[in-house]
Amino acid sequence: MEEFDWKNNITNKEEKIRLGKEIAKKVKDGDIIGFGSGSTSYMAILEIAKKIKEQNIKIKAVPTSKIIEDLCEELKIETCKIGEVELDWYFDGADEIDKNKWLIKGMGAALYREKLNMKSSNKNYILVDNSKFVERLGKNHPVPVECDIDKIENVKEALINLGARSVEIKKSKLKDDIFITDNGKAMLHAWFDKIEEDYEKKINEIDGVLDNGLFIGYDFEVLN
Ligand code: A5P
Repeated sequence: MEEFDWKNNITNKEEKIRLGKEIAKKVKDGDIIGFGSGSTSYMAILEIAKKIKEQNIKIKAVPTSKIIEDLCEELKIETCKIGEVELDWYFDGADEIDKNKWLIKGMGAALYREKLNMKSSNKNYILVDNSKFVERLGKNHPVPVECDIDKIENVKEALINLGARSVEIKKSKLKDDIFITDNGKAMLHAWFDKIEEDYEKKINEIDGVLDNGLFIGYDFEVLN
């Protein structure tokens, strides 16, 4: 996967550092922790690495993207894959959160492994700065939909039929080509004026879809 935007261009940085420090406080020796992706997770991982070094403790991380795997290697944090271990807890950021605690995630294109971690962890924390709270899910962000490259047109049509106002194909920043995810798929961005409770399931039923960035009805604690 190519570099995310977040390493150089971090919005609300002070809030994200504060949230990162909060999450680092929860780290205990021997913990197996799911690491999210995106700038909030990045700041949290830096804080965790600092604590590990200062207190000489050991943890294992289950990263949600290739770029976070590489970051762990750089910071000398041992990693393992989902399914190899049982997660004690998982933390991540989100793109939007509404009053029902429904989320849009995955603007960093890592939604597939993010959802796997969330589903298999005993305890989840979602770190959100104030810009993430919305009255209506989908207000500021599209729903990311990861799909087979050869099914893009069919998936686009199905999303429009479901009610999407527009659907864009995520482009690579490096070349004017489609963005390819860690799973070798394409990413569509579907803009909705209204998101219903069953959309996460309905989108995943579309032929060619791997997963989508709606997190509806998941169990997690919000840190703000
Ligand atoms: C990554 O794929 C995402 O789900 C991130 O958690 C989400 O995009 C939030 O990103 P920031 O922490 O950069 O706002």
